[in-house]
Amino acid sequence: ISDCNIHKILQKYSNIVDKIPADEECCICCEKLSAPSGYTDSDPSAIVIELKKCKHQFHQACLCAMYETGVKDCSMQCPICKTIYGQKMGCCPDGQMDVQKMSQSLPGHPKCGTIVIVYNFRPGIQDDRHPNPGQPYYAKGFPRQCFLPDNKDGKKILRLLRKAWDRKLTFTIGTSVTTGHPDTVVWNEIHHKTEFGSNSTGHGYPDPNYVDNVLAELASQGITEESDDDD
Ligand code: APR
Ligand code: ZN
Repeated sequence: ISDCNIHKILQKYSNIVDKIPADEECCICCEKLSAPSGYTDSDPSAIVIELKKCKHQFHQACLCAMYETGVKDCSMQCPICKTIYGQKMGCCPDGQMDVQKMSQSLPGHPKCGTIVIVYNFRPGIQDDRHPNPGQPYYAKGFPRQCFLPDNKDGKKILRLLRKAWDRKLTFTIGTSVTTGHPDTVVWNEIHHKTEFGSNSTGHGYPDPNYVDNVLAELASQGITEESDDDD
């Protein structure tokens, strides 16, 4: 990961723009695309590039600067439309994801039994992608149990959640909105169901929209069954 060179990434996922539009702005620095980057003065060349799939345009220097402040995982995400180039990785610390089965069924999903995912973390030291590098992080409220119906949809979601876990996208380190604890392992952008027999928290069952919602959240992190490709 560390030898991911930004120039190789830009070569793979972007083209240099020849006809720079006169009036459009670079959404990263808010300066005109036709003027030099306002974000960094280290690149007076004012090269403008466009991402290959979505065609959104930026100062090359601005996109480089954005990449350097991120996870530096060899992937690129358009800051305008969120199109992902390559495989997005997160910065979830090391931990465990275990899967078990339960014969009881979830409200709304009778007679299929339940998949139980158990996540666990130990406290550790934050690395340079986390909010306070070198400082400790905590693991409050673990192990956490999450529930899926043991049917076709639930099995599909489980396969994708494993992929999210492998790409370190399931949790991140930050301040918990629920508990207010800073520097702790918190859920990232993928909702899990942590309540079993009811839905008093909104994170339980029944929830007829959950399958669609979580599949959409996974897809917006670049996780689908189809796309395992590298571009
Ligand atoms: N179950 C699942 N997801 C939750 C829960 C919950 N009980 N509470 C909040 N979330 C979702 C939020 O909707 C948000 O998208 O997690 C995301 C991050 O919220 P934070 O409160 O910052 O996350 P965190 O501290 O990790 O978790 C809150 O989730 O699993 C429980 O025990 C855990 O009480 C804790 C709660
Ligand atoms: Zn775009």
